[in-house]
Amino acid sequence: MAARESPLLLAGRIAAAGGFQLIFTLRCRILRRTIPGIETDVKKLVFLLCCATGVMAQTGEIRNPRTSPEDVAAGAMIFRSHCAQCHGIHGEGGRGANLAVGIFYHGSSDADLLRNISEGIPGTEMPGTFFSDNQVWQVISFVRSLSERAVETRVAGKPAAGEPLFRGKGGCAQCHKVNGEGGRLGPDLSNIGSSRSVKHLREALEKPDSEVLPAFWRVSVTDRNGKSYSGFRLNEDTYSIQILDMEERLHSFSKKDLQSLKIEKTSVMPSYATVFSDRQLGDLLAYLSSLRRKARTQ
Ligand code: HEC
Ligand code: HEC
Repeated sequence: MAARESPLLLAGRIAAAGGFQLIFTLRCRILRRTIPGIETDVKKLVFLLCCATGVMAQTGEIRNPRTSPEDVAAGAMIFRSHCAQCHGIHGEGGRGANLAVGIFYHGSSDADLLRNISEGIPGTEMPGTFFSDNQVWQVISFVRSLSERAVETRVAGKPAAGEPLFRGKGGCAQCHKVNGEGGRLGPDLSNIGSSRSVKHLREALEKPDSEVLPAFWRVSVTDRNGKSYSGFRLNEDTYSIQILDMEERLHSFSKKDLQSLKIEKTSVMPSYATVFSDRQLGDLLAYLSSLRRKARTQ
């Protein structure tokens, strides 16, 4: 792949990486939106031009221009309607990261927040938005105001007492990896405390079926010879489906060859609602929420 890229494009990349990424991405975002069907080569050229002009227009640090109390109030409205379902009404986290601690793994500068909120964060559930930059700045002012009146997101348990429950009584490590150790049937939990609130973690333990990501839906199929398979729904399109079975083997089927296909949106994770004492549950939650990334140093 890399060999096919022109030196010009490479230069563009280096320029973009050199701190002008914001201007670059903003301009390109606008261009992408206005000319979606344009040929790739032309697009590359246009990208390059934006980089070049981005370099010239670069004038020091980018600062939030919308920080008045009215802006914070306007940002709060947008946050409630578009962000709270994942980040919690007070930014305390849930499906999305805790935004109330004032430290952001993906970058804490105004420029970082503008990029992450406008563009989304690739490879995560954090979506991009279609707000104007002014609106995004208002949301940023609101998000910044959250850490000034931080909400309680800690639990009254001991992480050190939770870890043995994770590995022992809970049997969690059979399915979940933490820092490279553990099974692969469930998601890697090494950084789970950075991206999920205590409330979400508690729900995941007590009611695993309430929110199951599509990659963890379960599929059972019978092929044309009458042989049955079951596993996670890794991928699916109109004509085919890929399944990862419980022994972590990958199976791919053409749908027209199947006698039956059943999808269940429930979790393979058992409910732990009655397994632990309240105190043990507190310790386990404290352990999970201590599994965090450190903020990236800039
Ligand atoms: C569909 C759920 C969802 C919605 C809606 C959503 N986010 Fe997120 N957001 C996430 C997730 C998940 C992450 C954590 C990504 C990761 O690091 O794995 C995240 C991360 C972030 C981060 C970076 C946190 C960090 O530590 O660097 C910011 C800032 C953020 N979101 C702000 C917003 C704002 C503002 C909105 C509304 C305009 C919003 N998000 C809407 C799911 C969501
Ligand atoms: C049989 C395998 C299995 C066991 C045992 C298991 N899990 Fe899970 N877990 C899963 C799977 C699969 C998912 C993803 C589907 C879902 O959301 O339920 C999951 C999801 C989760 C999530 C939600 C992750 C997220 O991104 O929101 C948490 C937290 C979690 N497990 C913690 C635990 C803890 C703690 C234990 C032990 C007390 C445990 N699990 C035991 C398979 C397992």
